[in-house]
Amino acid sequence: MRCIITVAALLLSCAALQAAAATYDYKKLLQMSLLFYEAQRSGKLPSDQKVKWRHDSALNDKGIHGEDLTGGYYDAGDFVKFNFPMAFSTTLLAWSVLDHKKGYEKANALEDGRKAVKWATDYFLKCHVSEFELYGQVGEGTVDHIYWTLPEDMPYKRNAFMITAKAPGSDLAAETAAAMAASYLVFKDVDSKYASTLLTHAKQLMNFAVKYLGKYSDSIADANKFYMSSSYQDELVWGAAWLYRATKDKSYLDIINKYWPVIMYWDGFDWDNKKSGAEVILYMTTRDDKYRERVKSYCDNTFFKTPKTPKGLLLTNAGGNLRSNANAMLVCSEAANLGIEASSYRPLIKQQVGYYVGDTGFSYVVGFGNKYPRYAHHRSSSCPDHPAKCGWDFFNSNTPNHHIVDGALVGGPNASDYYFDTRKDATHNEVTCDNNAGYHGVLVNLIELEG
Ligand SMILES: *[C@@H]1O[C@H](CO)[C@@H](O)[C@H](O)[C@H]1NC(C)=O
Repeated sequence: MRCIITVAALLLSCAALQAAAATYDYKKLLQMSLLFYEAQRSGKLPSDQKVKWRHDSALNDKGIHGEDLTGGYYDAGDFVKFNFPMAFSTTLLAWSVLDHKKGYEKANALEDGRKAVKWATDYFLKCHVSEFELYGQVGEGTVDHIYWTLPEDMPYKRNAFMITAKAPGSDLAAETAAAMAASYLVFKDVDSKYASTLLTHAKQLMNFAVKYLGKYSDSIADANKFYMSSSYQDELVWGAAWLYRATKDKSYLDIINKYWPVIMYWDGFDWDNKKSGAEVILYMTTRDDKYRERVKSYCDNTFFKTPKTPKGLLLTNAGGNLRSNANAMLVCSEAANLGIEASSYRPLIKQQVGYYVGDTGFSYVVGFGNKYPRYAHHRSSSCPDHPAKCGWDFFNSNTPNHHIVDGALVGGPNASDYYFDTRKDATHNEVTCDNNAGYHGVLVNLIELEG
């Protein structure tokens, strides 16, 4: 927002303008985001499923020895279960429930929030078949992307892939450990037996991650084409930070002290880079100023040194997308909660969220407001119900998606605020579990802050 300082208005007008960022119904947006996660559910759907246009699917997802691998979340507009970004989304969902119970309660969504976490952790428990064996993917992007169908009509065999001591994946194991440790804290006082199972697996997986070093995408070839991991050191720090928070066991500090210096200057936060989020957790648990300084530097750079689109979206990555922006807003919301520049960051965060949900006259959240994406790149909501046929002719047609995938945040506009609503543009119009995860966490923060 541009501030014009006139003689009469003085400096106050800038502060006033910032504070006056539009307010939206964040509770409704949070409930809708939870519906999006429901819409991504794979496997046998429960009787309390609210998204009724989805049906049971992928009931034969099995490991190489026949292990049951049903459940979990479809990654995006497609139907692969990519555990690496799924685990990241789960860690963020669990974090939001853990530290913002009040916000969920205000939105009457606490139960649903826990269910969203458990839908993933139930699946991760199935994937961790022995101490040093963790399934990391079911289905292959190279195969899955040939078809545009409903999930219950997938016409191909879904292979499963694991990491092992010989084909390691420290990043995947540590991120899954982070998800389970954060979820342990969520369920500790709700279902202590389930929680302790999660913690046992979290500890084993963290040990697996540290003992057999390597990148999971070097071990799972198909993942390398879709979610190639750049490094595992950041996940080792992130996983150890969550385990330290969960257990206060000093051995996790040794892992952090060994790997944090390696990643010290890699500021950022997304499914591939856990660095700045890890520092928030580390500052929270250790109060060591070296983490505070790095987080503050990252947020200061984000807010005060990052270029914006003409309409005010911070271009937190070169091409601009809402996921990258929202992940940054999450880190800085949580930093603000720890006393880092709260009064300066919070109005700016609210303004960025305003851009996502309606400030430009368009909502990039499907189903919210009057104008929102009708052609999200998302198969299950786009395809007509049985017995009608789906397929590429439908994909290429001008028929809007048959169902509204409520609550899903699309990729968003380009760096000049330009956006065209078409299924053909996966970059700007796809919806993914991890695309929503940071944004979801920011929403609960806003709910708590708004009266
Ligand atoms: C955004 O897309 C529009 C339409 O294709 C194009 O004219 C514009 O140059 C793009 N902006 C950037 C920064 O790529």
